[in-house]
Amino acid sequence: MVLLGVETSCDETAAAVVTEDGRILSNVVSSQAELHARFGGVVPEVASRRHLELVAPVVQGALAEAGTSLDGIDAVAVTRGPGLIGALLVGISAAKAIAWSRGLPLIPVDHLHGHVASLYLQPDDVEPPFLCLLASGGHTLLLDVQDRTGFTVLGSTLDDAAGEAFDKGARLLGLGYPGGAAIDRLAREGDPEAYRFPVARVQGLDFSFSGLKTALLYAVRDLSTEELEARRADLAASYQRAIVRALVGRATEAAEQSGHSRIAVVGGVAANSELRAALPGAALAPLPLCTDNAAMIASAARYATAVPFPEYLALDAYATAA
Ligand code: KG4
Ligand code: ZN
Repeated sequence: MVLLGVETSCDETAAAVVTEDGRILSNVVSSQAELHARFGGVVPEVASRRHLELVAPVVQGALAEAGTSLDGIDAVAVTRGPGLIGALLVGISAAKAIAWSRGLPLIPVDHLHGHVASLYLQPDDVEPPFLCLLASGGHTLLLDVQDRTGFTVLGSTLDDAAGEAFDKGARLLGLGYPGGAAIDRLAREGDPEAYRFPVARVQGLDFSFSGLKTALLYAVRDLSTEELEARRADLAASYQRAIVRALVGRATEAAEQSGHSRIAVVGGVAANSELRAALPGAALAPLPLCTDNAAMIASAARYATAVPFPEYLALDAYATAA
């Protein structure tokens, strides 16, 4: 069986062709980041319109790169939520149209399950059980993963997501949007101990990142333009250190409490070099599969329920986690 995956939940238009046994035949991602950069974040309606322009060429690109056509596809997988509702609807409409025109089944996929399923692809297929840290622009979750069909949420953020904290920090430092990768790069030139940014300790296995962002705001506010220029790398390194410390601390606690001997890390923030280095024994999502992509959506579809042709025409998107 060969799956075509489609992902349009935020500002990446993505399509991929993946086999039932988890081989990636193609994985095409068209990022809209530049389009949204001048607004300092994703503008939902701008994203929807751009998905509309990109979805057909991106799907065609994925089929071509896989050396196949729709004749070689057995099912269509698509992100149903959570995400931006208009953006999701573009992908769902496209996926429905493709599946319906060929009489194929449609497999709706939860975006978060997709991130976890980035671990189930070859050549580094990770076998559950494990404790999974999912850290992205929209979510920060600790998940108990017992099998490939899903997960149980053990903890989440009470305010900002880790990726959001990176993006807001980058903005305060004048590094543009999206900022995670920019902070990661700049932090290598700075001293992570230069500033002591507080890591909020909240009850249970939850996270809180909004205080950290405020601490950075105060630190930046007290500096002149020249001083900020001189301290920018130190600020980036110290800020990143605080986020990584919080993520690693809570993930380790969660693993201990839930009896997992293995930790896995997925989502856009899993691309962070300091986080990866701080968890040497962990199963880390492969770098190209950390940020949003459709290979992970097709991967999750292998363990989700297919809706037979033509019962999916009324299928709807959902904006927030079910
Ligand atoms: O998983 P993703 O592509 O989208 C969501 O589902 O939200 O994650 C995007 C997030 C952004 O906040 C981005 O700044 C962050 O991942 N990110 C990073 C790095 N690369 C991307 N954060 C820290 N370090 C990185 N290298
Ligand atoms: Zn995502």
